[in-house]
Order: sequence, then structure tokens, then C-alpha cells
Amino acid sequence: MHWKGLLHRYKEYLPVNESTPLLSLNEGHTPLIPLTHLSKEWGINLYAKYEGANPTGSFKDRGMVMAVAKAKEEGSRAIICASTGNTSAAAAAYGARAGLRCIVVIPDGKIAQGKLAQAKMYGAEIFAIEGNFDEALQMVQKMSEEEDFTLVNSVNPYRLEGQKTAAFELVDALDGAPDILAIPVGNAGNISAYWKGFKEYDAVKSSGLPRIHGFQAAGAAPIVNGSVVKNPETIATAIRIGNPASWKLASSALEESGGVIDSVTDEEILESYQMLASKEGVFAEPASCSTIAGLYKQHRQGVLPNGATVVAILTGNGLKDPDIALKTVKQEPIVIPNDFDLLRQQLKGCVV
Ligand code: F0G
Repeated sequence: MHWKGLLHRYKEYLPVNESTPLLSLNEGHTPLIPLTHLSKEWGINLYAKYEGANPTGSFKDRGMVMAVAKAKEEGSRAIICASTGNTSAAAAAYGARAGLRCIVVIPDGKIAQGKLAQAKMYGAEIFAIEGNFDEALQMVQKMSEEEDFTLVNSVNPYRLEGQKTAAFELVDALDGAPDILAIPVGNAGNISAYWKGFKEYDAVKSSGLPRIHGFQAAGAAPIVNGSVVKNPETIATAIRIGNPASWKLASSALEESGGVIDSVTDEEILESYQMLASKEGVFAEPASCSTIAGLYKQHRQGVLPNGATVVAILTGNGLKDPDIALKTVKQEPIVIPNDFDLLRQQLKGCVV
């Protein structure tokens, strides 16, 4: 069956009516990849939900397709968002698709190059502030109150509606909820959306509920610390956030699911980032790899139940942030003259 995107596939669970345009870039339906090596090492059944396979390379497409379809339905002509990069890429793409102006406000110099390239290509109007994401979010919230812009950050409830579909896909693929869901936490919308999705499917299908394990970067861990971080700092720029908008919803998800939230250092994130790519062949951006780093930490602490089914949400594609990848792997290409004998000299007999 040809996949026609989320609004088509899950319309009975979404705020879709006859006047809602079935906007789509064929988002969703992302791979659930068994991580066989890590599963063996850690004694669990570990899967990665590879959200980097979405049309703009992150999970944001799930929420954005819903939010932009509703904006269009309601007659909006322009959308606005603050972003650490991925939201701006998704807003710009779906805005272009729907014929809406798209304004994005980003922290200057703190978003990955691939994401900036996307926002530019999709034709967004980009403002880079000398401030952080939290400050940008305050600005766009005010702007959307003063002018006729539709705010498409995850404080827009349609965003979470769209993003909850990832939980549906997991349950459909695994024939029930996993035991543990590991997820990065930034502005805390996605963790809240997953929990909503699991609960809604469980109410209809008795599919069960996972424990939610959330992970923040150590330099941007307000929920873990229990207080706002004024100047968040982490290499995982996607989750460089000090005052999450959906903090309360995330706390409920953690509490109701009997879950936990923990932080991982930049060193731990980078180690897992490289390990995931080089051991499993799965390339996800640093923020996404906070899940692998967090699970690795919990494995070392002995708190992952043997044999548990665990899903790590890999929220964004590794290609989004080539600079970090190139810096992380110290080994450089070996440059040689255009001469087969020299290549042979390097490689002869080296496979044993
Ligand atoms: N992973 C990636 C790759 C992200 O881009 C984000 C958030 C998160 C995780 C955290 O999700 O905010 O719902 O808790 N990125 C936003 C953005 C803030 O602007 O692209 P969250």
C-alpha cells in the first residue's frame, strides 16, 4: 500500500475533519531498527526508531504537518517559530508546501549547518538573535500575540497531536508498547506527545504503557536539576534549552509512567554518537544520541532489566550536523597521489 503520510494514516486519532487539507511530504512510517550489537552487550532487546528518515530529517515533521495543516484550514497566511534548528527546517518545508510565509528565529551561531541550509532552501525568513532558544521562544510567542502569525512551536497543541503518531507506529510494529522508551528532552514537547500517544492507543487497544526514560544534556538539564538553566550549554545544540515550555507535561509523563529523567555529559553523548554509527551503522545527530548515552549509563548502573524491550528515539539525522561528525572522528582521510601502486602499497595484505 502506498504510504500517504500521517494525516491520512491516523486521521481517526487526529484533529482532522473535512476542511483539513491532507497536507503531506509522506512523513512518518520511519524504520524501527534492531540494534543487535548493543542488545547483546547490554542484555536487552534494543531498537532505534530512526526519525532521521522523515522528509526533513527529524521527528518535527510529524508535528509540523498537523500544525501547518490546521493553520491553513484556519486561514492563516504566515507561521512563526523559534528553533534550535530542526523545527525551523520542518516549519520552512511544510510552510513552503502549504504556501504560507514562514518566519524563524534562531540562536545565532548555535544551530547546525545542515538545518540552516534547509531553512534557507525552503525559503524561510530567518532572524538570528544574539540570545538562546528560550529567549527566541519568548519573542515569537509575543509576536504571535501582537500580529497575525500562527505560532508553530510545540506550545501549539496540534504539534503534540501530530508527534503522538510515533507512539502509534511503535505499538503497531511491536504488537504492544515497549517496556522502556528512551527519549531526548529539550523543550519537552516530544516526551509529552509520546506519552499522550501511548495512553490514547492503550485506551482503545489495551496495548500497554512503557516506562519513559528521558535524557537531557548535562549543561542543559533543567528538569533533572529541578531549576531553570539561565545559560544552557551543550554540544548537542538541538537540546540546548534551559526552560522547557512543556516542563509540566513532561513531569506528568515521567511520574505516570514510573519513569526517570537523567543527564548525560557531552563526552558521553559524543562517545555514543560515534559508537552507534561505527558499531550499528546508524548515524543520528548528537542530541538523539543522548538516548544511547543514557541507556549505556543505566546499563552500567545495572538498572536495565534483563531481556527488556527498549526503544531509543533517534530524533534527528546525523547529516544535519556534519561539523560535529568531522570533529569527533580524529582519523583523517589518507591523501595519496593518483597512482594505483601507492593504493596497493597501503592495502596489500592488510585484510587478514
Ligand atoms: N532531538 C532533536 C534532534 C531535536 O531537534 C529536539 C528539539 C529534541 C530532540 C528535543 O525535543 O524539544 O520536544 O523535547 N528541537 C527543537 C527545535 C527545540 O527547535 O528544533 P523536545
